[in-house]
Amino acid sequence: MKTALRALCASITLLCVAPAVRADDKDVIEYRQHIMKTLNEQAAVVGQILSGAVPDDNVISHLDALALTASTALKAYTPKVPGGEAKPEVWSNWPDFSKRMNEFAKMTADMAKTAHEQGKDAALAKVVDALSCKDCHDTYRKEKAKK
Ligand code: HEC
Repeated sequence: MKTALRALCASITLLCVAPAVRADDKDVIEYRQHIMKTLNEQAAVVGQILSGAVPDDNVISHLDALALTASTALKAYTPKVPGGEAKPEVWSNWPDFSKRMNEFAKMTADMAKTAHEQGKDAALAKVVDALSCKDCHDTYRKEKAKK
């Protein structure tokens, strides 16, 4: 285990500059933010493809990546750790928040499945409904000023 961690540290310098004392709450917040950033990057490339700025050869992989990442998101919010840009309502309205996150995971999974079964055009027609990012953010995220 230690060897594996050292190997990981050697390849990802970022992990090693983390403070020696682990702040559990900080880790929880960073974990869910990393997941959100992954979603953000994958949604951004799908946007580039839709606008015709880049070729669509990889689009099915990007839709798979969105679906896979979305499926990990709810778990990341399960620990009740307010902070970051998450509003306290995430946990005080947990039934609604988790419903939205599950729905988001379901819709992105359906979009990826459509891509495999019916092709990219049929899948891309579902993009606006599947990427309910803004709906959730309007209610549950307090966006801080850009750094
Ligand atoms: C069901 C709710 C929900 C959905 C769906 C959702 N988000 Fe989020 N998102 C949040 C919450 C809550 C935060 C605040 C997290 C924190 O700072 O602790 C957040 C934060 C973020 C952040 C900031 C991360 C950071 O580093 O501070 C980005 C970027 C983001 N979301 C992108 C997306 C994108 C893109 C999608 C859709 C493809 C999406 N989100 C879907 C709830 C959601």
